[in-house]
Amino acid sequence: MSSAKLIINNQEINLPIISGTEDEKGIDITQLRKQTGHITYDPGYANTGSCASKITFIDGEKGILRYRGYPIENLAGKVKFTDVSYLLLYGELPNKEVKSIFSKKLRQHANIHEDMKRFFDGFPLNAHPMATLSSMVTALSAFSPDASENDDEAINDTMIKILAKVKTIAAYSYRKYRGLPFIYPNPDLNYVENFLHMMFSDSQEDFHADPILVDALDLLLILHADHEQNCSTSTVRMAGSSLSNIFGAVSSGISALWGPLHGGANQAVLEMLKKIKEDNGDYKKYIKLAKSKDSTFRLMGFGHRVYKNYDPRAKLIKAVADNVLSKLNINDPLLDIAKELELAALEDEYFIARRLYPNVDFYSGIIYRAMGIPTNMFTVMFALGRLPGWLAHWNEMIHSEDFRINRPRQIYQGSTKR
Ligand code: SDX
Repeated sequence: MSSAKLIINNQEINLPIISGTEDEKGIDITQLRKQTGHITYDPGYANTGSCASKITFIDGEKGILRYRGYPIENLAGKVKFTDVSYLLLYGELPNKEVKSIFSKKLRQHANIHEDMKRFFDGFPLNAHPMATLSSMVTALSAFSPDASENDDEAINDTMIKILAKVKTIAAYSYRKYRGLPFIYPNPDLNYVENFLHMMFSDSQEDFHADPILVDALDLLLILHADHEQNCSTSTVRMAGSSLSNIFGAVSSGISALWGPLHGGANQAVLEMLKKIKEDNGDYKKYIKLAKSKDSTFRLMGFGHRVYKNYDPRAKLIKAVADNVLSKLNINDPLLDIAKELELAALEDEYFIARRLYPNVDFYSGIIYRAMGIPTNMFTVMFALGRLPGWLAHWNEMIHSEDFRINRPRQIYQGSTKR
């Protein structure tokens, strides 16, 4: 094991270097404070590894994203979202037999307790669906007595229940805010078909979601399924590290994802594109605004803390957007504006110098819009995709040998004793 040498006030200490399977290097500072009385300082944690994990690998320089070693290009559109959920949770793709058991459980647990439907009456019709989602996921704990059970069987059951019920809650909140009746899950349908059924079937006779939309949504959910220690996943780990139940931890993740700097960006991108369209499509004006130090405006859907190259997910999503819109004969001017914006930004020194590329949120909203999903539901769709990732990280954390409550330190700069 190699080490790093640190010299502080003439004291010399060796800090072990930890290596990952993809040769990532980290300086192990677990003994730093004890040995030197110093802590590290890294607001935003851009240089800080919070844990070791076996779930997802990202190489931001090369634009690589792999779930349990599988490149997303080999999963998206090749296997189902429920297969990828199983892979993230348990480390292997399910074989035929395991897949049917897992899928059956997801169908069995898709309903929520009838009493929970009353909660929707308490929300104003203009409530943001992310507010509803985070509240209802916390409320699920009240209807799951085994929520705090920590034997593996109970934990697995709870994770599957959450995976099964959150899409129902999402569909119900869409129906409620439009004054439409709830549509119950149909146990004969797979995960994505069932979601689209609960959203749009309007009790039409034998509703069948357009296979183009089913495949596109399944692929989108796969591309959102995990992304190592992003803001919302780190929040799930943080909240879960106090051994609060998994519902509370996931609900915290939903709230973190809501922010426009994170998952809320997919909604913000559509709002930005609509604004540019209303402004005679003058995208150059918004590029100028994004570059100006005097404005807080940012090009939503652009830039990433880790990817300093094209986000591999954005590439795939852009292709799906083209494919879905052409197959459905939809000519969405917002897609044209998005492409012009991307082209101009990628040739602009400001974006090139800062290595800012389209991220996962830049094109996804165009597809949700083509599906008839309203803009304020876009981040809910991100949460549906990210759910297996959150569950997998929570599960990995509570089973890790060095599990302990997360409690960072600080540098105090307030008043001294008065
Ligand atoms: C997601 O972490 C993940 O993995 C997240 C995610 C996942 O799957 O979980 O990938 C999902 O959240 C994607 C990101 C969605 N957010 C947005 O699209 C919002 C717009 N993007 C930015 O706000 C920003 O790029 C972040 C938040 C994504 C990253 O912020 P950082 O790493 O803190 O970068 P920074 O703010 O330090 O920016 C570095 C420079 C700054 O300029 P200077 O001060 O050096 O002159 O780049 C500029 C920034 O002003 N910059 C932008 C910009 N993003 C960064 N300028 C204009 N438009 C932008 N979008």
